[in-house]
Amino acid sequence: MKKMLLAIGVITLLIAFAVTGCRIGKEEKHKFTEDRIEEVGEDIWADLSKAKVGVCIYRFSDNYMTLFRREIESYLVGLGFTKENIMIVDSADSEVVQDRQVRAFIDQGVDALIINPVDPSDVSDITNLAVEADIPLIYINREPEAEEEVRWEDNKWDVSYVGCDARQSGTIQGKIIADLGIENIDLNGDGVIQYIIVEGDPGNADTLYRSEYCIKALDDAGLQSECVFKGYADWEREKAEELVSEALKGGVEAEVIFCNNDAMALGTLSAIEKAGMRAGKDIQIVGVDALTDVLIAVQEGQIAGTVFNNYIQQSHSAVDALITYLSNETNPHYIGCDYVAVTPSNVQTIIESLAR
Ligand code: GAL
Repeated sequence: MKKMLLAIGVITLLIAFAVTGCRIGKEEKHKFTEDRIEEVGEDIWADLSKAKVGVCIYRFSDNYMTLFRREIESYLVGLGFTKENIMIVDSADSEVVQDRQVRAFIDQGVDALIINPVDPSDVSDITNLAVEADIPLIYINREPEAEEEVRWEDNKWDVSYVGCDARQSGTIQGKIIADLGIENIDLNGDGVIQYIIVEGDPGNADTLYRSEYCIKALDDAGLQSECVFKGYADWEREKAEELVSEALKGGVEAEVIFCNNDAMALGTLSAIEKAGMRAGKDIQIVGVDALTDVLIAVQEGQIAGTVFNNYIQQSHSAVDALITYLSNETNPHYIGCDYVAVTPSNVQTIIESLAR
């Protein structure tokens, strides 16, 4: 499996090089401002070390986005970009900060932008800034509203989104729980699964759809369920621990805890342990992302499962898409990626494939 993944990675890299090289060979016109052409010459894409990329990440302290941004950087470097031309900044969960960063990148003459939006429901200003400056833009991970994506399509702008369908991750979470068998979940024997949902941030598509579709999957499996507690922990481990600890202290009794991501599943696990309960026996926890600590907890039986949110494929797709735009070719405006269920039966394979 590891070898197969490695082989796929190398082939993808070779194709990316080959495609980029042959487009450059055609001496196509690129989208540069006069200043940029004067600075680096017209054949910038023959030498990617001269290309400048600006990347905004909504919050550096987010565990999953840390894996994502590191992979973007190493993939860009592998393709020939130089470290000093890859500018990755922390938007500190502030729209104002992110807006300022995008303007600064444009003033500095970046050739392409990758944005993980702070507020995915309101990215039109960022899109407009990039389009006006004629700079290709790839949004990642936090999906803008459907009507915004329609605008890119209608205007044939060089703007795309790279991410996964959050509904799929919720469905997989529900199936992981349903597959445990009602006899192993419904410990109070009332025929109903009492559950808690620990949510990400409000209004985010991942939060909304993961919470909705994990329960829909229980319904589809013919299992009755009841929400006994729900709260936001903003994707953060500490906040999740606090939230779940408070709920348990307040007398909430649950059989399953659905966590919108793994960082919060780890916080939930700590809360369960501190409350003197046995995770994986007295209560089932499920997350999303496949963070290393969660994979270990799945292996050890404390966490029922997680959903691999493939940051490697997504970061490579984002970079490949921006190179395609820069080569004056088109991309789909939505570039997807599949989630993968992780349970005790395949966790070892996932651990090995990620240990590169
Ligand atoms: C999700 C991911 C979370 C968090 C969130 C930020 O895709 O599963 O861990 O990073 O994005 O919006």
